[in-house]
Amino acid sequence: MRILPPSLALLALAAAMRAHTPPSDAPSPKLVIMPLPEAAPAPPGNPATTGKIALGRLLFFDPVLSATGDVACATCHHPSLGWADGRATPLGVNAAGIGPARRRARADQFPIVKRNAPTVLNAGFNGITIEGRCDPQTAPMFWDSRELSLEAQALAPIRAAEEMRGDVCAESAAIGGAVKRVRDIALYRDLFAKAFGTGDVMTAVNLGKAIAAFERSLVTADAPYDRFARGDAAALTDLQKRGLKAFESAGCPACHNGPMLSDYKLHFIGTPGQKENRDFRTPSLRNLKHTAPYMHNGSVATIADVLIFYDRLMDASSETLDGGDAPAQPLDPLLKTLNVNPDDFAAIEAFLDGLNDDSYDRSMPDAVPSGLPVPK
Ligand code: HEC
Ligand code: HEC
Repeated sequence: MRILPPSLALLALAAAMRAHTPPSDAPSPKLVIMPLPEAAPAPPGNPATTGKIALGRLLFFDPVLSATGDVACATCHHPSLGWADGRATPLGVNAAGIGPARRRARADQFPIVKRNAPTVLNAGFNGITIEGRCDPQTAPMFWDSRELSLEAQALAPIRAAEEMRGDVCAESAAIGGAVKRVRDIALYRDLFAKAFGTGDVMTAVNLGKAIAAFERSLVTADAPYDRFARGDAAALTDLQKRGLKAFESAGCPACHNGPMLSDYKLHFIGTPGQKENRDFRTPSLRNLKHTAPYMHNGSVATIADVLIFYDRLMDASSETLDGGDAPAQPLDPLLKTLNVNPDDFAAIEAFLDGLNDDSYDRSMPDAVPSGLPVPK
């Protein structure tokens, strides 16, 4: 038997002992069953080319982008950790190691990164509508959707003190510094010329474009669910098909819908341990197997615990969460249609497992042009 943390064990017990308030009459929406497209669309200003993807890949793994010279994008988005980091919240500068084993080198130096690192797998589809339309220029990035497009997002971690800048330079000097370090490396000069042509091509804008082109290549469109959506009825097991129905009757597609199982809208759902008084974006439910722990703060360890959380939400006596850690704020009205039945948990978990695609690119460069160590 799995041991639950005491608070969740109590919740599970409470859930088993009480009768649910009857669900509202509003019908919960059906899941629009659609596979993920095979390729993420590129914006008009940044068509994908093999040269750009190869350059972006090296930049992604190269700690040269960090002012401290020891944090790469891959430190927190690592191929062996589902292109996330397997931690509740990451450690950027002043730390060593990878994933859960990463440790601070100097205590109390920087505020810890306060949000969970999402996977970059399929981030090229962020913003895809329930009907499958996708605009890479307005693709929402981060848990609160504060940046739009992979191109714009790629520069943000270089500027962030706790992620890649440390106390080495001012925020306004971080991007210029990274571009200068890259320009000083002959191999990067060749690779930028191959990707973008001659002239003054070693710019922050092109650095963002190359990284974005690489990230768009990280796609998983062959989960059992995708094969099912393309017409292979046997791709999902009977239990998974039952789970799909249970997912619908539980009310999950009100927010988790479309090819990425997300409406890409912001909601307040009273997440355990939530301290920030704001709404967060519905995350995709693809590849959850590789991206625990869950939620914007990494506060929920397993899928089973997420389901217990939703079950408990139906008990929230008023429209605001009573007690708990969440700031008093009205819960999203879409939660009123939740109708979770603990008897369905195993089937829903099986259905969510059908959204995992293990065939994604786990390759890493052996070396990067700066000669700095690749995060391993
Ligand atoms: C110290 C760890 C860390 C490093 C280094 C880091 N990231 Fe992240 N990344 C995060 C965290 C944490 C978030 C979520 C932050 C938030 O939502 O406020 C994130 C979010 C993202 C997202 C948005 C995904 C989504 O679905 O919204 C992308 C894309 C991304 N990072 C790419 C990169 C790239 C490219 C680099 C290197 C230039 C990088 N990251 C470096 C931790 C890191
Ligand atoms: C009102 C919209 C809404 C409904 C309905 C909803 N969710 Fe969510 N879901 C969210 C949001 C928003 C988050 C992220 C919250 C956060 O990070 O604080 C989330 C997070 C999750 C996560 C964690 C994913 C990750 O990568 O961290 C899972 C799993 C999940 N939901 C499954 C479900 C299931 C199963 C149901 C139905 C029982 C459901 N959700 C119903 C909006 C919703």
